[in-house]
Amino acid sequence: MTRRRRIYEGKAKVLFEGPEPGTLVQYFKDDATAFNGEKKSTITGKGVLNNRISEHLMNRLTEIGIQNHFIRRLNMREQLIKEVEIIPVEVIVRNIAAGSICSRLGITEGTSLPRTIIEYCFKSDELNDPIVSEEHITAFGWASPEELDEIMAMSLRVNDFLCGLFIGIGIKLIDFKLEFGRFFDGEEIQVILADEISPDNCRLWDSETNEKLDKDRFRRDLGGVEDAYQEVARRLGILPESGPGDLKGTTAIQ
Ligand code: TMP
Repeated sequence: MTRRRRIYEGKAKVLFEGPEPGTLVQYFKDDATAFNGEKKSTITGKGVLNNRISEHLMNRLTEIGIQNHFIRRLNMREQLIKEVEIIPVEVIVRNIAAGSICSRLGITEGTSLPRTIIEYCFKSDELNDPIVSEEHITAFGWASPEELDEIMAMSLRVNDFLCGLFIGIGIKLIDFKLEFGRFFDGEEIQVILADEISPDNCRLWDSETNEKLDKDRFRRDLGGVEDAYQEVARRLGILPESGPGDLKGTTAIQ
C-alpha cells in the first residue's frame, strides 16, 4: 500500500490526495449504510461496480457537455477526480414517488409525479440531512442564487439524459441524488457535478416488472443486492456477458 494523505472518509468512499495539485483519488468501498448510518453492512463487489457505473455515466454526461469532476478511472476501485469545494446541499430529483416523499406527503410508491420535482437537503449527518428550501440555501449562503439556478438547470439536464439512457436498457429512473462542487480554474469558479452516480444514490426499477435494481434492496432487506448492481452494470454494457469476474478487486473487469 502506498502511503497517501487521506483527505476525507465518508460512508461509502474515501478521498485521497491526488498525484497533481487540484486532483483527488476517489476510492469506492464495499461498505453500505442506510438511515444515516444506523444500518451497516458490506456488499461484496459494490465498490468495484459503483466505480465502473459512475465512470460510465459521468463520461456520457461529459459527452453532452455536463461538466463534472471525473477525470479517469485508475483501477478497480479508484478514480481520479478534480478537487472541488463541495456545496453542502444534496439535490434530489424525483420522477416517480418512492422513499421519503411517500411517507412525508402520503403518496403511494410508484405514483408518477405531475412533473419532475427537485428537493434539496442540507448535508449534515448530525442533523440527518434535513430537507430545506431554496430560501435556506441562499439565505445561509450555502450557494448563491446564480449557483442554485445553475444547479437546478444542470440537474434537470442530467435527469432528461439519464431517463433516456436508462429507458434504452429497460430501466425506469425513479429518483436520484446529486452533489455539486466549486471548481477553481485559475480566475474562474465553475459549479460542476461531483460525488458519484450509481445504484447507491439512484432508484432504478426494471421497466417491465418494476423489480428494484438499487440500494433499496439493501435498505429494505430484499436480498440480491450484488446481483441487482451487477444487472445494472451488465445492461449498461460494462460487464462481460459471462459474469463479473472477481469483484473483490484482484482481476480486471474489461
Ligand atoms: P429518499 O427517498 O430517501 O429521500 O431518497 C431519494 C433519493 O436520493 C434516492 O435515490 C436515494 C438517494 N439518497 C442518497 O443518495 N443519499 C441519502 O442520504 C438519501 C437520504 C437519499
